[in-house]
Amino acid sequence: MNNLLKTYNFSNFEIVRGNGSYLYTADNKKLLDFSAGVAVNSLGYNHSVVKKTIQEQLKTGITHLSGSQIHLYKYKLSQLLSKESNKGDVFFSNSGAESIEAALKIARNFGSSKGRDEIIAMTSSFHGRTIGALSVGSNKAYKSDIGPVPGKVRFCKFNNSKNLKQLINKKTLAIIIEFIQGDGGINICNKEFAKTIKEICKKRKILLIADEIQGGIGRTGKIFAYKHYGVSPDIITSAKGLGSGIPIGATIVKKEISKNINIGFHGSTFGGGMLQTRIAYNVFKTINKTNFLNSVKSKGILLDKLLNKLHSNYDYIKEIRIKGLMAGIEFKNSQIALKIYKETSNHGLVTTLVKRTTIRITPPLIIKSEELKRGIKIISNCLEKI
Ligand SMILES: Cc1ncc(COP(=O)(O)O)c(C=O)c1O
Repeated sequence: MNNLLKTYNFSNFEIVRGNGSYLYTADNKKLLDFSAGVAVNSLGYNHSVVKKTIQEQLKTGITHLSGSQIHLYKYKLSQLLSKESNKGDVFFSNSGAESIEAALKIARNFGSSKGRDEIIAMTSSFHGRTIGALSVGSNKAYKSDIGPVPGKVRFCKFNNSKNLKQLINKKTLAIIIEFIQGDGGINICNKEFAKTIKEICKKRKILLIADEIQGGIGRTGKIFAYKHYGVSPDIITSAKGLGSGIPIGATIVKKEISKNINIGFHGSTFGGGMLQTRIAYNVFKTINKTNFLNSVKSKGILLDKLLNKLHSNYDYIKEIRIKGLMAGIEFKNSQIALKIYKETSNHGLVTTLVKRTTIRITPPLIIKSEELKRGIKIISNCLEKI
């Protein structure tokens, strides 16, 4: 028995520790983690960089300082994120949804002087659970019975350039997109759609907001997923893998937009704290190395091969979608998906189920090739059984 609000379908085992790509339960079962706390624990568990940074931070005697107080790693992380993305200015918060809230507020503020207030979001999109973030998320179930969500939002069919062109008008302020959709079932933006977005944004002076919360921080083999597409987003949101388990959100805003933001426009008590920024700085530095990103790419290629072999062996699978270490196995129906999800979980493999039909794979980026093979073998054995 517990007193947790029933917003989740809770697991029936208790996790007590982790190491590398493995989690251990209270009754000493070893679980291979193909989820990483849903694309969060980018460096896995018990990683020396995270541990050492926490120890160093403890020596200062401080974990928190308020938003206006400046400290070294807040500076350094903002410089690093800016340099490695759109050269913009950074607002720090504590989660993905908060980084989206900041992005929406900043975009709407920018549009208000120009008489623009419509945002185009995508079908199958997910941007978080706060009311503002829900306004640009397409899943109606998440917005049921809560009254109106704010903002004028139109939903474009993902990867449909014709539909995008139809929706654009002189009121359009911004397009918000996950270039690799996560909760919507791992859907990969095609190059042609990205090119249309780029052209439209340039021609019609529309802001491009890239949600990099799930697909960013090395997950797809590049530090940000949008970098696969030759676009330069006006606003970028980051969270999840950025702190490798420590809550942090960041909204990176191009200078021509950030220059309009006044003191007091936005804020966050915990955002940009000393502990979080120090950890995120060291995590980002660790991941944003050619060797590290190349290893994600090559493990992604291996995973792609293994998953496609599964697909050719088992008729239950409808489609494999993958970019780097972000993959979805879509099954032909939700009953089979649920069965495989439960069965693999019983055999010690941690994954997540999205859109009811798709097993999502987002392992720690430090996972070993052997561990990927082991996890796919568990899935294959379970498929064999049914
Ligand atoms: C693409 C994307 N955006 C936003 C969010 C919301 O992040 P958080 O749960 O940290 O608020 C998520 C979380 O899954 C996400 O995947």
